[in-house]
Amino acid sequence: MTSPIAARSAPGRSAPDWLNDDLGRVEDIIVSAAGSSRWPIVSEPSLHLIRAGGKRLRPSLVLLAARAGNEAGRATDLAAAAIELVHLATLYHDDVIDGTKTRRGVATAHVQWGTEVAVLAGDFLFACGCGLGAEAGGEVPGILARAIAEVCEGEIVETAALGDPHRPVGEYVETIRNKTAALFRAACELGATTAGAGKVERAALVSYGEGLGLAFQIVDDLLDLIGDPQVTGKALGTDLNDGVYTIPVLLGAARDPSLAARLLAGDRRVEEVVPVLRATGSLDDALEIARSHAGNALEALAVIPGSRWCGALEGIVHGVVSQVVAH
Ligand code: IPE
Ligand code: IPE
Ligand code: MG
Ligand code: MG
Repeated sequence: MTSPIAARSAPGRSAPDWLNDDLGRVEDIIVSAAGSSRWPIVSEPSLHLIRAGGKRLRPSLVLLAARAGNEAGRATDLAAAAIELVHLATLYHDDVIDGTKTRRGVATAHVQWGTEVAVLAGDFLFACGCGLGAEAGGEVPGILARAIAEVCEGEIVETAALGDPHRPVGEYVETIRNKTAALFRAACELGATTAGAGKVERAALVSYGEGLGLAFQIVDDLLDLIGDPQVTGKALGTDLNDGVYTIPVLLGAARDPSLAARLLAGDRRVEEVVPVLRATGSLDDALEIARSHAGNALEALAVIPGSRWCGALEGIVHGVVSQVVAH
């Protein structure tokens, strides 16, 4: 039977309205750091994606996780801005690696300014993020440095697996634990440490970030196959075209050897591949895997007594998985 699994018409919301003041302060720090160069040829590409939009999910996690402690202040805001700048830097570099033409609904930096400027603007944003981290002090620089290294490890490992439809799903999950979940874990840990949260809360928040990050990437992978580019702001089938075979494709290739053969022969057309993934139940099963990581994130939060900010963290998990629905 053909699966009716589909993308929803609106993206999952990141943060509740009551976080708007906090996010506004963080936005000011982000814009002033990324726009700090006296040369427009540096600040224009560096501010490009910030102006284009984005969900500000990672800073929202820092600010919400900081509610677990009593000392949230300037260091929390700096850490929240820092992790968004680091995230942006990874996006500039990832778009060069993936050869992506659109992000946040606009032309990518390398399309607009060329590869050299895009790579260097990414480096500039990494440095801006690290500078803010140093200003925040305490454990912030160390947490950021570790997360950056983990993302790079994940991105490098992914290049080694390109074009292999027989890659084990478990290996794929280990890669996204680095390339995506690392920043989610770090965001939660930054919130906890800058606000002086207790050990139990901090550990719970880090586990939450891990589960959310894994679910988030698997849903993003599904949206690469069945999403609406008007909603995602990204082109359809980018992973597939680049030979980045994600969980639904790996499951489909294992279940239908003719799909694996087709992919190995270089036929990576999304309109040919998606019907096979539907017919083999691979889209549904990938969504189930995302839901199980989302469930782990919710379970991790259960040790923290109910509160408004915990509810908001739960809402983020629901928003992420509900971007894709199986009717
Ligand atoms: C994109 O992250 C990179 C992935 C890990 C898939 P987001 O979907 O959070 O990107 P923005 O910040 O909203 O543009
Ligand atoms: C990349 O994952 C995560 C990063 C390290 C930036 P994706 O390649 O799936 O991210 P998108 O889909 O381009 O946003
Ligand atoms: Mg990409
Ligand atoms: Mg993606």
